[in-house]
Amino acid sequence: MTREIAKDHHTDVLANGRAACAATLHAAVDAMPPTIRHIAGYHFGWWDRDGRPEQHTGGKALRPAFVLAATTVTGGEIANALPAAAAVELVHNFSLLHDDVMDRDTTRRHRPTAWTVFGIGPAILAGDALAGQAFALLAGTADARAAAAAELLNHAVLELVEGQCADLSFEGRRDVTVAECLAMTDRKTGALFGCAAELGGLFGAAGPGERLRLREIGRLVGRAFQHVDDLLGIWGDAHSTGKSVYSDLRSRKKSLPVVFALAAGTAEATALATLYHRDEPLDDAELRTAAELVEAAGGRDWSRSQAAELCERARTMIAKLSSDPAAGADLDALAALAADRTW
Ligand code: IPE
Ligand code: IPE
Ligand code: MG
Ligand code: MG
Repeated sequence: MTREIAKDHHTDVLANGRAACAATLHAAVDAMPPTIRHIAGYHFGWWDRDGRPEQHTGGKALRPAFVLAATTVTGGEIANALPAAAAVELVHNFSLLHDDVMDRDTTRRHRPTAWTVFGIGPAILAGDALAGQAFALLAGTADARAAAAAELLNHAVLELVEGQCADLSFEGRRDVTVAECLAMTDRKTGALFGCAAELGGLFGAAGPGERLRLREIGRLVGRAFQHVDDLLGIWGDAHSTGKSVYSDLRSRKKSLPVVFALAAGTAEATALATLYHRDEPLDDAELRTAAELVEAAGGRDWSRSQAAELCERARTMIAKLSSDPAAGADLDALAALAADRTW
């Protein structure tokens, strides 16, 4: 079943979420020591490498919008959820600053990654500072739900870290199974999306059952999101994604489409394994061949269909959250975007 959504509704939802959180996010970054503030501001796209204000394409700000949309669907006031929405975005950006070091990636959001501009140590410290500020934001609210929110966020960080550990260890392994890869994805990306949705419910008017359903919706969306991220990493357009193509293949990442293809048991899967498990670096022609073999072994189609199916499951659950379809429209648009995006 394909559901209709208002065309480009997600554009408004993302813009509104970003605007609602802007002051809180800026204040959290402004309160950091100057050197680190500069790196964080560069990473967010607010300042250039010399600290001059710049209007640059930042991130999509999907997770804070997700928090606020989850608040709305449960009939809550988004003003109550703003610190949580900003905290999730701070944690997300801490994870990206560290992820680019770990993945040796040199381009993000159409610009050189922070570690290539400021050095590995300072970029890691900027990430550390963002993580600290996320929890300070929650602790700084007078809201009685702050401690529960911090516990949820901390749990998501621990899962994310565990997922990132698995992602890194998989680079050097030849026997990663599809099940292991799915579990890794659920942790590195699903956990924070699940947390975002649950936090929205916590600061909305959700009861315990509804909060659990929101968490499940977030995790489904996060898993769909990572399938698409992995597809874009191979077949995306760098002008749209703002990231280097083939970076995952170059690092021999066990991304979802690659692991599916390696496990397919076909002649293409065997040829892919021979190329992928070689010790020497892959040149551009070999990277293109690897991408073709992933596609020929079914990895591209599988990730596409998995993303669509996960998204559909999430949207079916969203439709049941409220008797008023308008209340869930923002959350629905964000869930649809996760499986159908080019950037
Ligand atoms: C990138 O997330 C990391 C993943 C979990 C795949 P986003 O694609 O949401 O990053 P930004 O914030 O929009 O740059
Ligand atoms: C996504 O990492 C998860 C986290 C950053 C925690 P990836 O390495 O898959 O994402 P990109 O493609 O670099 O954004
Ligand atoms: Mg990465
Ligand atoms: Mg990574």
